[in-house]
Amino acid sequence: MGTKVQEIKNKFLKAIEGIKDAKSLEDLRIQYLGRKGEITNLLKHLKDMSLEERRHAGPMIQRLKIETEELLNKKLSDLAKSRGDISEIDITIPGKKITVGHYHPLSIVEKDIRRIFKAMNFSIVDGPEIETEYYNFDALNIPKSHPARDMWDTFWLKQSVPDPRLLLRTHTSPVQIRYMETHEPPFQIIVPGKTFRFEATDASHEIVFHQVEGLMVGKDVSLANFKFVIQEFFKRLFGKNLEVRFRPSYFPFVEPGLEVDLQCVKCGGKGCNICGNSGWLEIMGAGMVHPKVFEAAHYNPREWQGFAFGFGLERIAMIKYNIPDIRLFNSGDLRFINQF
Ligand code: DAH
Repeated sequence: MGTKVQEIKNKFLKAIEGIKDAKSLEDLRIQYLGRKGEITNLLKHLKDMSLEERRHAGPMIQRLKIETEELLNKKLSDLAKSRGDISEIDITIPGKKITVGHYHPLSIVEKDIRRIFKAMNFSIVDGPEIETEYYNFDALNIPKSHPARDMWDTFWLKQSVPDPRLLLRTHTSPVQIRYMETHEPPFQIIVPGKTFRFEATDASHEIVFHQVEGLMVGKDVSLANFKFVIQEFFKRLFGKNLEVRFRPSYFPFVEPGLEVDLQCVKCGGKGCNICGNSGWLEIMGAGMVHPKVFEAAHYNPREWQGFAFGFGLERIAMIKYNIPDIRLFNSGDLRFINQF
């Protein structure tokens, strides 16, 4: 029986090697494993054998049957592969794109600002976003029930015990007081940070935005020093010399107080849609620190003097990148974000 099995096997192996298409492969399967196939016949004859013979031949024929089936299946898939029906590597699948993140435009501008002021020997200082009424208003010479408070529409926190009264800081100016309470002059700092206003949003107003506060205090720090610092800052930020103009203005924590205008970055002062044809961009508030502010921080106003300023980060970014609407920054719209 053993030689018979081996014979069939050899014959089959030789035959399958020469097979070139699925049709002849199917014919070969029928020839060996079909109802009247050679291996099927062997199995059928088992019942005519003695028990002894059957024990020996049975497993051998079964093994042949299984091996033959396996070889037929393998050949079938080999034929399919060589026809291009199935391929282990699908070269038509698009490659995996590895997306690399990038900075938000506000982060880019903030980093630039930090770098420029650092290079001018300013320290970068932080303060809390939840502030007390005292630091946000009183210490900055903005008393309760004074109309000046109306300049800052405020989010007040709900408190069961409103002592001290808490709010979301409406500007970064309270950090002036916090810093002076714990540091001795002379110094120069900037305070970039988040600020909050309880007001209607439009193309130039958001309820959450960012400011950069500046404060320089020394024995004889003047507005002339401020003008140099701020002109140098804009020169480095926008990469060109730009005129700066001071106009008298009012902020309770400075005296004199001023509004700083920057020569229009786009038109250079000729007048365009960005500057509303005036040639100037209103860019920040500033002034000489009010004696009352120094007193609140326990500085002697006769001994120290300095300038303070504050501007909106979004406004700078909007000018730098020609962004028409402040609400785009937080829109989460990738068509906007991916441009930077
Ligand atoms: N805190 C002011 C605001 O939010 C901006 C400002 C004006 C800051 C004048 C100053 C300053 O430090 O001197 O509108």
